Amino acid sequence: MSDINICAIIANSYLIIEGVIMSFKVNPLFIFVITFISNFSCVWAMEDYFVDDDNFNLETERFRLRLLRPEDAADMFEFTSNPDVVKYTGLFELHKNIDETKAWLEEHINRYKNNNYDIIWSILDKDTNNAIGFCGFEECSTRDSKAELGYAVNHKYWKMGVATEAAQKVIDFGFNVLELNRIWATYDPRNIASGKVLKKCNLVQEGLLRQLYFFNGEYVDRVMLGILRKEYLAKQNADSSNN
Ligand SMILES: CC(C)(COP(=O)(O)OP(=O)(O)OC[C@H]1O[C@@H](n2cnc3c(N)ncnc32)[C@H](O)[C@@H]1OP(=O)(O)O)[C@@H](O)C(=O)NCCC(=O)NCCS
Repeated sequence: MSDINICAIIANSYLIIEGVIMSFKVNPLFIFVITFISNFSCVWAMEDYFVDDDNFNLETERFRLRLLRPEDAADMFEFTSNPDVVKYTGLFELHKNIDETKAWLEEHINRYKNNNYDIIWSILDKDTNNAIGFCGFEECSTRDSKAELGYAVNHKYWKMGVATEAAQKVIDFGFNVLELNRIWATYDPRNIASGKVLKKCNLVQEGLLRQLYFFNGEYVDRVMLGILRKEYLAKQNADSSNN
């Protein structure tokens, strides 16, 4: 059971206890203090979960996934500086030097540390321990329990199933551990590979966002796809009963 679930149980148990206390007409100040301690401990435990980076360590057959680190800069620069990698991402500007990659890493690591809006994993090749790509959630919303999926893979490793393997693991973590309700993504319709990755992860097309970005001197469309928690869990249950 996740810490978040434990918190919810603690908070709910407290509400029941508070009801009992209320029925015995206890001093309201006492109730306020108990409420404060209960809510604080709940937030505290959730933050504990997010602060410990190791809670996010994941493993697939061929890769280890762990949160982005500053020391990934050299490996990442190898592909963030490649125009072919960047051309359909829409927002991700080509890195002209390694300092831009360092700044990009720092920005995302800080966004994670400050408010958990981004949870992005480096994809490490188990054989070499090199970061050969990244995959993760941007714009996580705790209010709506949703997150946007994104990824990129070093061009030397394209068409080897890297993005699909990593994205499937990250989506599973999103629904089963973070308990998201919705995971969504957009891709440039010319980016055949990305469209295939998302469909292999069972995201379904929801629409076409026309001329969403102005990127590289032109307006570009994005195909919008999504998957809901109930759809993911139903598919997972169906798969496990077929096996
Ligand atoms: C999109 C991207 C992450 C795919 O990575 P990948 O590890 O090569 O993807 P996979 O190997 O899991 O391939 C998934 C499918 O796409 C196909 N594919 C991969 N690269 C392709 C390409 N350049 N052209 C056509 N199809 C391609 C694969 O053959 C596979 O299809 P299949 O299952 O029918 O054989 C990679 O091309 C990339 O980093 N692109 C630049 C960054 C980017 O566009 N990110 C997405 C932003 S929305």
